[in-house]
Amino acid sequence: MPGLPHSTAAVVGTEETVRSRLDKLRDARVVVTGGGGLVGSRLVALLRSAGAVVTVLDRMDAYPESGHETFGVARGGARLVVGDVRDAETVGGLLRDADFVVHAAAYADVAACTRRPDIAFRANVEGTQVVLEQAARFPVRRLVLVSSASVYGDGASDTAGPQVFHEDQPLFPVSVYANSKLWAEHQTRLMLGASSGTEYAVVRYFSVYGEPQIPKPGSHSWMVPWLSLQARLGRPMRLNGGGDQVRDLIHVDDVAEATALALIEEQMAGRTVNVGTGRPTSVREVADLIAPYFPGSRRIVTPRPEGDPLGGYACVERSRELLRWRAGIEVREGVERYVRWLLATPDATPRWLAEEYGEPEGA
Ligand SMILES: NC(=O)c1ccc[n+]([C@@H]2O[C@H](COP(=O)([O-])OP(=O)(O)OC[C@H]3O[C@@H](n4cnc5c(N)ncnc54)[C@H](O)[C@@H]3O)[C@@H](O)[C@H]2O)c1
Repeated sequence: MPGLPHSTAAVVGTEETVRSRLDKLRDARVVVTGGGGLVGSRLVALLRSAGAVVTVLDRMDAYPESGHETFGVARGGARLVVGDVRDAETVGGLLRDADFVVHAAAYADVAACTRRPDIAFRANVEGTQVVLEQAARFPVRRLVLVSSASVYGDGASDTAGPQVFHEDQPLFPVSVYANSKLWAEHQTRLMLGASSGTEYAVVRYFSVYGEPQIPKPGSHSWMVPWLSLQARLGRPMRLNGGGDQVRDLIHVDDVAEATALALIEEQMAGRTVNVGTGRPTSVREVADLIAPYFPGSRRIVTPRPEGDPLGGYACVERSRELLRWRAGIEVREGVERYVRWLLATPDATPRWLAEEYGEPEGA
């Protein structure tokens, strides 16, 4: 139900709230790999509020300025294990006692994976293999694999305008990152489910945004923070390729809800769903939403980077049916929340970015 706080959003077709459904997770032992990152930390907070006993496994080195402080995962009552998902002993030690697993750890940046396919392979492929092996070994009830809409690539080449991506359409990754996510999807299907006692579900996130997201150095993903920070620093907002690319911008609070529901909804066993709003937004439209908060803000057109898909938006029929859920936060509201948070949080601007761009004009 658009506009409602995420914890009270009505479930599609029923009066039950998400929060009451998540009550099933009370006292459940949940391991979240990558739980120190943007999405993981928000999910951990939601699981904790539902009464789950949460353990996070994370390297905690994805951001040059401490991920611990950025996303506050250590403050939410979860146990934090700083380690690597490729470490079978550590992963096995945690999954031995787990009821549920969310595998969200990844080298989670398209440009970084293009620059360093070796790291992408180790984190996203080898790391996933270790997590799947250990999940199959122990009586884990369900593993939710976090995947990405990047597996769709540019979709059908003969379609003009923004494309809607349906879970069953042909997949054609156009980046190293996307290819690693697609491999993880297939390997999860092959190693769990019928061939093991552990069920699986796959969630394909579209473009996640929301405070306190900050970009990573050298990245071109995450347009809401990039454009907001460029405007905040008095720099022109950079519209790669003119800003015609579209994304389905899904707020991190909505993503956390959908992921938690994927752990418990019976119909999700062995299924894959899109996690998006079902609405396209172009990069230029996001710049239009941000501009009024930064009077005098400017734009420039920059080249479209390698691996940057033209994009599309989610078909949300299946997520409505199987998760009994829909996104609750409209892009306009989510962007406003982000910009207001940025303006109220001077420390949010990463040092590396301020140094690269210089101090904010008029700051
Ligand atoms: N943010 C998006 O727009 C988006 C879209 C689609 C899918 N995803 C997926 O969502 C998940 C979470 O991404 P995010 O946006 O929160 O990014 P993030 O970088 O904030 O979080 C990823 C976390 O994984 C951890 N990690 C990386 N490699 C690891 C390893 N080898 N061992 C242990 N921990 C490791 C990092 O330290 C980080 O905390 C990822 O799987 C990503 O691919 C994100």
